[in-house]
Amino acid sequence: MATQPRLRRRPALWLQNQPLDAFERDDPPLVIDRGEGIYLWDREVRRYIDALSGLWVVAAGHGRTELAEAAAEQASRLAYANTFAYATEPALELAEALVKLAPPGIARVHFANSGSEAVELALKIAKQYHYNRGEGKRYKIISRIGSYHGQTAGALSVNGASYAVRPPFEPLVPGAIRVPGVNCAHCPYEKTYPSCNVYCARAIAGFIEAERPETVAAVIAEPISIANGNFVPPAEYWRTLREVCDAYGVLLIADEVINGFGRTGRWWGIDHFGIVPDLMTVAKQLSSGYAPIGAVLVHERVAAAFEGGPERAFMSGLTFAGHPVACAVARANLGILQRERLPERAASVGAHLGARLREIARGRRVVADVRGIGLLWALEIVRDRDSGEPFPSRELSRWLESALQRRGLLTRAGSLLFLAPPLVTDREEADAIADIVDDALAELERGGP
Ligand SMILES: Cc1ncc(COP(=O)(O)O)c(C=O)c1O
Repeated sequence: MATQPRLRRRPALWLQNQPLDAFERDDPPLVIDRGEGIYLWDREVRRYIDALSGLWVVAAGHGRTELAEAAAEQASRLAYANTFAYATEPALELAEALVKLAPPGIARVHFANSGSEAVELALKIAKQYHYNRGEGKRYKIISRIGSYHGQTAGALSVNGASYAVRPPFEPLVPGAIRVPGVNCAHCPYEKTYPSCNVYCARAIAGFIEAERPETVAAVIAEPISIANGNFVPPAEYWRTLREVCDAYGVLLIADEVINGFGRTGRWWGIDHFGIVPDLMTVAKQLSSGYAPIGAVLVHERVAAAFEGGPERAFMSGLTFAGHPVACAVARANLGILQRERLPERAASVGAHLGARLREIARGRRVVADVRGIGLLWALEIVRDRDSGEPFPSRELSRWLESALQRRGLLTRAGSLLFLAPPLVTDREEADAIADIVDDALAELERGGP
């Protein structure tokens, strides 16, 4: 493959999560220029499959002029109006559309500009909910080791993923209680499902007791946690979590930032588990990435605590939250997801992709497990599945991502190789993804890092 020429000088652009000299490496970051469907092109007009939808974002696929037109039309009519004082048509319409799609009882929508902000707002709503009800000492948030919820201070505090680095930013927000999560492939309690009777969910009651229930505001968790290994929990896990929260008056926040909008083959990740959370955080696929936007979806029984007078109003104030252009784009994007039945398509094409990946795994000793649902997949990569010996993790990431990139596929890969292409992916494209992955894994078996 022709490698792209280096930029002539270090750019002013400081890429997220990258050292300052990233552009001076032998394999500098690509400069992406254009997209269409499931494909991206770099400046050298080399084509890649976007096998992670950017970052689990581009549900409707790249190059949708309908979304570009929605942005242009709204910006020409009204780009911005004071978002604290006034409503706009696109914000009103998008909120209505979200409530219609949400599980029963979810009745209010509070906008944000990203997933992190949505999480931040959900944590604040949970705390003020208790405050307004005269329980102002409930400030603690329970989250799960291995989880990821974002980068703003509150979200960073509740993160439990090893890669969500906290030490340089500490002390963070007090009251973040991290407890073991759910992953039957690597049970944190070394138990076995179903005989464990979802001990990991029941154990959360013990943590709430130990912290004193009158100090605990909420539990936050992804229905299907990507950061914690892309593991799909048994339905009892979420039912038990719901019961535990109810027993202690603790709010349950489902972080749907990745799971939401059809990624898992249903509209919401939580739809697989038959419960309704108190709050849902959404972003990413809400606009398919055509505009930055997030939101908190709020159950009516939570919203009721904010009724009655300005002193009970939710205290927030994000200048761009509910931005008319972002809302118009997201509304048009939801139209595409509904019209083209993309959640259903994710279920059927995803089942095909999953079957192909399992078949590949059977023949490759470097695959320890294949986990996922819908178009949300991850392969667990080891040097040898019988011994469980891992590859050195940093070297594996660079090796595998570049082996896939050389074959025309972009994704995040390391001890977990993630595959979450746009929801418009068809069967042939899913096959192309599986073939490339198989070929790269064959090379890994012959001699990886
Ligand atoms: C589950 C989850 N919550 C929250 C976030 C934060 O979203 P954002 O990156 O839009 O701030 C992410 C980002 O990947 C996420 O995966």
